[in-house]
Amino acid sequence: MKTFIVLALCCSFISSRATPLPFEFLDCDNPDVFEAVDTALKKYNGDSTSGNQFALYMVMEAKRTVGPDKQLHVKYRIQETTCAAEENKPWQDCDYKASAEAKTGECTAQVHINNVDGTSNVSQDCQIVPVPPKITHSQAVCLGCFHDIASDTLKVSEILKRAIQKFNKHSDEVSLFKLVEIKEAKRQVVAGWNYVIKYEIKETNCSKAQFQELTTECKTISQGRIGKCDAKAYESIQAEIVDVASQCKFPAEDVVNPPTLICAGCPRAIPNDSPELTELLKVSMEKYNSETNDDFYYKAGVIESATVQVGSHSSF
Ligand SMILES: *[C@@H]1O[C@H](CO)[C@@H](O)[C@H](O)[C@H]1NC(C)=O
Ligand SMILES: *[C@@H]1O[C@H](CO)[C@@H](O)[C@H](O)[C@H]1NC(C)=O
Repeated sequence: MKTFIVLALCCSFISSRATPLPFEFLDCDNPDVFEAVDTALKKYNGDSTSGNQFALYMVMEAKRTVGPDKQLHVKYRIQETTCAAEENKPWQDCDYKASAEAKTGECTAQVHINNVDGTSNVSQDCQIVPVPPKITHSQAVCLGCFHDIASDTLKVSEILKRAIQKFNKHSDEVSLFKLVEIKEAKRQVVAGWNYVIKYEIKETNCSKAQFQELTTECKTISQGRIGKCDAKAYESIQAEIVDVASQCKFPAEDVVNPPTLICAGCPRAIPNDSPELTELLKVSMEKYNSETNDDFYYKAGVIESATVQVGSHSSF
């Protein structure tokens, strides 16, 4: 391994220093230093249960307390290897990971080696530096993935404008709905771009009967219903939005009991078995069944509730 070459390199740096008490500085190629670093690093690798083992990269500093006990203070650098932690191989037998992908770390350890029974006592602190993320690399690898994009881009507003126009034109709602929030916008490289946008729309005070399209006059109403929508769109290579599809869901609303004021023109409850109602249902079921392409005919089930409104015709 290259480790030992690096180990020797740092020694001239250390040995040129003065030797203050109560520590004496040691040469990095001193066997006691190596023993201490080896003991500390084995403990570090032994204590980690996941990831890869680390191997010694360089001894930065080594000193020993003056006295009969072999107590060493070492500072050393480590680099990630290709050996898994649970392999339990000696780190000397492991190869460094390619340096662009390897985590590195710096450890400060105090190692107390008992010469009598050969036991050791290590206390150490290692700071591991993660591999810096390479954004360009991962984006290049995942060409076909959806990536988040800023929601304030022109393309996103163009798609949503068209999606909401379509919704307002075709929905069964009485009022026009307006964009209130873009939750998420993503796109994917194809031959052109695919977009996926999540957003919310809210009921405005413009009725569809009065307005064909949203105008600046249409304001969302505070008690208005909120729709949660997804839009999908395709942008061609010519940077043209050619296809927009959207789907909105209205979460179940709290049922608000209508005010029980009597007013002409207000819906009023009628009995479910009223002859008026039975006749109407029969007509509407016949109409539905004749218009639908379904293989089955539908028939009215239980009538939950029925209201009738005074006017030129009844609405249900
Ligand atoms: C570890 O060493 C410290 C002194 O550095 C000592 O106080 C402690 O008792 C030792 N622990 C063991 C388990 O040997
Ligand atoms: C909607 O509300 C705004 C302000 O609250 C008002 O200016 C506008 O005229 C209203 N539009 C309709 C159609 O009622």
